[in-house]
Amino acid sequence: MPMTVLALETSCDETSAAVVRDGKILSNVVTSQIALHAEYGGVVPELAAREHLKNLLPVAQSALRQAGVAGTQLDAVAATQGPGLPNALLVGLKAAQAVAFALNRPFIGINHHEAHLYSPWIESVGGALAADFSKFLPNVSLIVSGGHTLLVLVKSELNHRVLGGTIDDAAGECFDKTGKLIGLPYPAGPEMDRLAEQGNPAAFAFPRPLLNEANDDFSFSGLKTSVRYFLRDHPALLTDRQKVCDLCASVQAAITEVLVKKTMRAAQREHIRCVTASGGVTCNRALRHELERACQKNGLTLRLAEKSLCTDNAAMIGILAERKLLVQIPLPSLDEEIKPGWVLA
Ligand code: KG4
Ligand code: ZN
Repeated sequence: MPMTVLALETSCDETSAAVVRDGKILSNVVTSQIALHAEYGGVVPELAAREHLKNLLPVAQSALRQAGVAGTQLDAVAATQGPGLPNALLVGLKAAQAVAFALNRPFIGINHHEAHLYSPWIESVGGALAADFSKFLPNVSLIVSGGHTLLVLVKSELNHRVLGGTIDDAAGECFDKTGKLIGLPYPAGPEMDRLAEQGNPAAFAFPRPLLNEANDDFSFSGLKTSVRYFLRDHPALLTDRQKVCDLCASVQAAITEVLVKKTMRAAQREHIRCVTASGGVTCNRALRHELERACQKNGLTLRLAEKSLCTDNAAMIGILAERKLLVQIPLPSLDEEIKPGWVLA
């Protein structure tokens, strides 16, 4: 029986609401707070929460309107329960629980990372979960954003195991922090991507941390430090535009090589035929290109999230919530609390 789910996502700096029915995205409204946080050089948690408070109701109303769905037609209300910024999570979770309570419908708390596992399978045409997505299980999924870097083995639906993650900075954080050293505005990832296009990735040699370690973990803080020392010793470089492009391309090459090689190695070791990727850093053109090249070489199927669904959105929260409803997971009580440090098992 088709279910209609309203989903809310407020774990970081995107306020988003979506309506999902029968695997189809009826609406997915996202407002980004990037401009607000840019002047501070990073997300300010208290400001993020206040902005969610201001934006959530209009965003949710707009999602319902675009979907042509009335509140009374909802079968369930879902929200990101964690991980994320505590006060930001509170806004979405408590709003979803209040709506569920008022409508006497179930509330579903969703793990943000588990939802990311679904975003590569949301097709742009028709905006629906790919009908055959379960044929591509098991797969290895790379989740790379400003806050997280995870490699996950998806064994079967709703059944996964985290293979590895970053032991310090996330990949997106590395883009943002090295970009800041180069003088780029926050978030530096997209601008590094643009400048790198005109640069030589072999111009400067930066470390590939943990590349040859026999594990699925990542580390990016050493790379950031090495860029810091390199710029201390070569300050004049930043006045030459071509050198800046070379620098961006070289840093980007170091990050993407580690991500791609470790993902391929995990897929081969686990005898996996399919690789997926999502999270803001998956917008990076070099990463997309290198993943495509490596998967082609190794005979693997690759599913990259659409760029608009790489970054945080409520559509993926709603899709996962509906899947959970369909398999009738035990539903949490309405007084469930946020889980800011919720680690995907
Ligand atoms: O998933 P996301 O929107 O938010 C969270 O961090 O949860 O990811 C944002 C991150 C930022 O670090 C941003 O710099 C990075 O994704 N990013 C990129 C690109 N687009 C976004 N990094 C490299 N190249 C890009 N094209
Ligand atoms: Zn995310």
